[in-house]
Amino acid sequence: MSADKPLIVPPKPPSRAGGFGFWRYVRAFRQDILSANPARLYRAKMAEFRIPFLHTFLINDPALWRRVLTEDAADFPKSPRLVAGLEPLLGQGVFLTNGAVWERQRRIIDPAFEGGRLRDTFPAMLAAAQSSVARLAAVADGQPVEVEAQMSHATADVIFRTLFSVPIEDAAASAVFHEFRRFQGTQPLLNLAGFLPLPRWMPKFHRRATLKSARRIRSLIRDLVEARRHAIAAGTAPDDLATKIMTTTDPQTGETFGDAEMIDQVAVFFLAGHETSASALGWALYALALDRDVQRQVAEEADQVLGDAPDFSAATRLKYARDVFKEALRLYPPVPMLVREATCPAEFRGRNVPKGAQAVISPWYLGRHEGLWQDADAFCPARWSTPAGKAAARDGFLPFSAGPRVCTGAGFAMIEGPLLLATLARRFHFEIIKSRPPVPVAQLTVRSGTGIWLKITPRTP
Ligand code: HEM
Repeated sequence: MSADKPLIVPPKPPSRAGGFGFWRYVRAFRQDILSANPARLYRAKMAEFRIPFLHTFLINDPALWRRVLTEDAADFPKSPRLVAGLEPLLGQGVFLTNGAVWERQRRIIDPAFEGGRLRDTFPAMLAAAQSSVARLAAVADGQPVEVEAQMSHATADVIFRTLFSVPIEDAAASAVFHEFRRFQGTQPLLNLAGFLPLPRWMPKFHRRATLKSARRIRSLIRDLVEARRHAIAAGTAPDDLATKIMTTTDPQTGETFGDAEMIDQVAVFFLAGHETSASALGWALYALALDRDVQRQVAEEADQVLGDAPDFSAATRLKYARDVFKEALRLYPPVPMLVREATCPAEFRGRNVPKGAQAVISPWYLGRHEGLWQDADAFCPARWSTPAGKAAARDGFLPFSAGPRVCTGAGFAMIEGPLLLATLARRFHFEIIKSRPPVPVAQLTVRSGTGIWLKITPRTP
């Protein structure tokens, strides 16, 4: 994009070169959705896939994704395939429900994530960022460090501090965090439940270890929720997100969440709110390590803006860190595919869409679409301050989805991400390890199949 600087192109999975037979496609798809698909998805406005058990439309056309996600959203609810895969952990959590149940849940949850409340969460986010600095300081000796795990730790800390006012070192928080890592390890297949071309009954066969792990996570969360219910009754509860959500009444019914429903929502916040941010931060750190110039600019902005005791206004002034974080979200959207199901026959770009077909809108393909973005695969935070970059973003930047089911935590994540990035870049220098490049794979979130390994040393301004 700039005449005087070579383009920095971070890793991108290879696309499928030729045709695949059905079972080979299923095998490849289970390993990684992106390398199982052909390169034309980066150019097409729409692609139709018909394979046994599944009729799917991948939609890149901006007018059409707006229709599916926003204008006609009621006709395209979340796919039940996804529900089947995540139900043991999330129960009736807002991530999975549809219709009237979902509407009621959003009416209770949304106020907790509004602007004023986000301001209140800032000190907790800052404390988590400082703890992350302390943890990294212990390993910043130039030896390889796996930063995805570090970022998972940091974002889990953010969730517990903002939701329950406890750090990740708290016994219950730490137990949920570790059990959650085990849960993920037990069920790589279920991660793909929404996208796999397998019969609908397939994801219901949960592995025993997955179910056990989900039960343990939910039991740990139950303890936290019950303790908070008692603290609210006793008038001793801290003013955090859990208290806010548990004391908010639905304006239409006057109801609050019961404990069982709150457990489901906490499981959602934990799943949806920490792995996603961790994934984006891991890739953002890798991109900073690739582009020293950008890394220096993020660190210098952090020096100027954060000072010794930053307040909420600092978060809004981290403009460059924000552009870097957005660029990481564009190239590595943590949720690579949004899957909806047609509940009535429709027509997409002149093609008949039968009832039951899947409509897939992919933040991954949109974020790298060659018809929308200049130098689509290049890491270039400067694009975010150009008219062309802003125009492309309107049609092709969808990391938080859009429409009524847009991510509840988008505002939260856009404070947390740049703040963590700036705080870390201010204290440390990040360097790639040429022999250990990350390999992007898309499962439930876009992660590196081999981890993201960097050399970290203290920064000398
Ligand atoms: C970089 C960080 C994040 C990204 C990229 C992200 C992305 C997304 C996306 C794409 C969806 C919609 C999925 C779909 O429609 O299939 C979603 C939903 C959701 N996210 Fe996030 N998210 C992030 C952080 C958070 C955080 C921090 C929270 C809460 C603390 C959160 C809570 C939720 C919830 C509750 C939903 C379900 C909304 C609904 O279905 O009505 N997310 N997120």
